[in-house]
Amino acid sequence: MIILSTRGSSFGRHFVLPFMVLTHTRACVTHALLFGFILMGIGAAVPLADAQKVEMLVDVSKAGAKIDRNIFGQFAEHLGHGIYDGIWVGPDSTIPNTRGIRNDVVEALKAIRVPNIRWPGGCFADEYHWRNGIGPADKRAVTLNPNWGGVIEPNTFGTHEFMDFLDQIGAEAYISVNVGSGTPREAAEWLEYLTTAQPTTLAKERATNGHSAPYKVAYLGIGNESWDCGGNMTPDYYLSQLKIYSRFVRNFNPAQQDKQQMLKIAVGPGGGEPRWTEWTDTVMKAYQNHTWSWDINGLSMHSYTLVKWPPSYASLGFGETEYAQILKSTLEMDDLISKHSAIMDKYDPQKKVALVVDEWGAWYAPLPGSNPGFLDQQNSLRDAILAALNINIFARHADRVRMANIAQMANVLQAMVLTDKANMVLTPTYYAFKMYVPFQDSIFVPVTFEAGSYTHSEIKLPRVDAIAAKNKEGKLWLALTNVDPNQAAEIEVSLTDLNAKSAVGETLTAPKVDSVNTFEAPNTVVPKPISANIAGGKVSVKLEPKSVTVISVEQ
Ligand code: AHR
Repeated sequence: MIILSTRGSSFGRHFVLPFMVLTHTRACVTHALLFGFILMGIGAAVPLADAQKVEMLVDVSKAGAKIDRNIFGQFAEHLGHGIYDGIWVGPDSTIPNTRGIRNDVVEALKAIRVPNIRWPGGCFADEYHWRNGIGPADKRAVTLNPNWGGVIEPNTFGTHEFMDFLDQIGAEAYISVNVGSGTPREAAEWLEYLTTAQPTTLAKERATNGHSAPYKVAYLGIGNESWDCGGNMTPDYYLSQLKIYSRFVRNFNPAQQDKQQMLKIAVGPGGGEPRWTEWTDTVMKAYQNHTWSWDINGLSMHSYTLVKWPPSYASLGFGETEYAQILKSTLEMDDLISKHSAIMDKYDPQKKVALVVDEWGAWYAPLPGSNPGFLDQQNSLRDAILAALNINIFARHADRVRMANIAQMANVLQAMVLTDKANMVLTPTYYAFKMYVPFQDSIFVPVTFEAGSYTHSEIKLPRVDAIAAKNKEGKLWLALTNVDPNQAAEIEVSLTDLNAKSAVGETLTAPKVDSVNTFEAPNTVVPKPISANIAGGKVSVKLEPKSVTVISVEQ
């Protein structure tokens, strides 16, 4: 039994790490646990070369839940260079832009089909007053950002700029309203301003500011981490706020009344400790008994990979020990989801309320010389593997986890893109997201396999991980990760109900676990084509050490 503490005192949580055991459908977890441990015992006696072969069985006839495209969502907070420089350079910038929004970033994000973006925070959201961010740019209030470096917030990126950005990349709005220091009236007026088609004073103001048609707001976050930076509320106090905001913060868009209704997401847990199980229990119990006057569709969960608080692991220049420790820590996501899903199941067995993991990713020490409040970090091959492992976990819980937002999209924490003035570089995590695009809205297909183990000093991890899914056209996709940084893995996939003819795809690896892409060398960690062998109906593919591979199977 391995006990880990992952987020310091106030954020602390403890888990039992289920190493060695990877399963495919949660219905057969118990069976798979036994199976996994039995094979682990056998594996110890098998010569190393044989132990690197992994047989998988993909039963294409067994369809699971839909892997909601929203699990590939992003989070963009007014924090460091996340918005300013990362997305917004202003219309007068020499950096190519469309109405102030960087063209290079837009092009990059379009290619990974970002489904939704959570904005404006984070902790920032509970101090954000939307009126500061509308109207002529030169008349906007200049405020402070006390959460993140105490810097000036120019408010030049506000509601219209965010909605324009979404429009440019084709994503949906996930707006987090201010519960901590705002009022229900302020939030209600923001939503009226955004969504009404009637000629109200707020709608006219929106038109004057350049948008006469109502905007679509797909998701509404009611507060952020209200148990801490969002106001240090007790579960009961938050619940009373939640009911008020859920009741009065309305979406008036005519196109969102019957279909495409705005989904409301309540603040949920930030770990697995009793204070957070109590939180989930309080909100879900109230949900079970809710009246017509309030409702929620999602419960948010935040879980960063950081091993200990404050974050002290380096984002570059690390070795195998830190690689193994971080990946071990990230796999705790599975237990955390199971724990809160079990509470949700008690009050919502039909799984109407989604678990929304709207902040996740690696949180490392700030880069030397950077403003510690800006959460600047590099992004390495380790992060691409970490992303793949988490996406696989979300996919296995697809019946409950229907949305997730990696933190954060540009220049902050585990970013997709890093920018510096006119330069932009795509991170290894970006490429993992790009390779997983075919899994968006695909149907989960169970994979049975015994993962084997990768051991580094006292750390033992499942050596490989895999998910499979069928897309709308019926094509089968496999995502295969080799966690072991030293040994390749020979994967042999047997497919029931599918006559494989060929299988091709891409693989992402690099010389070292801490390989990164830089402005000078942007192609160190980029996907390369890979093809599998087909013999006797089986698909065989060799996974390079420390790699993520996605292949499609043609029949
Ligand atoms: O992503 C950085 C911060 O982490 C967010 O603002 C907050 O919600 C969380 O604690």
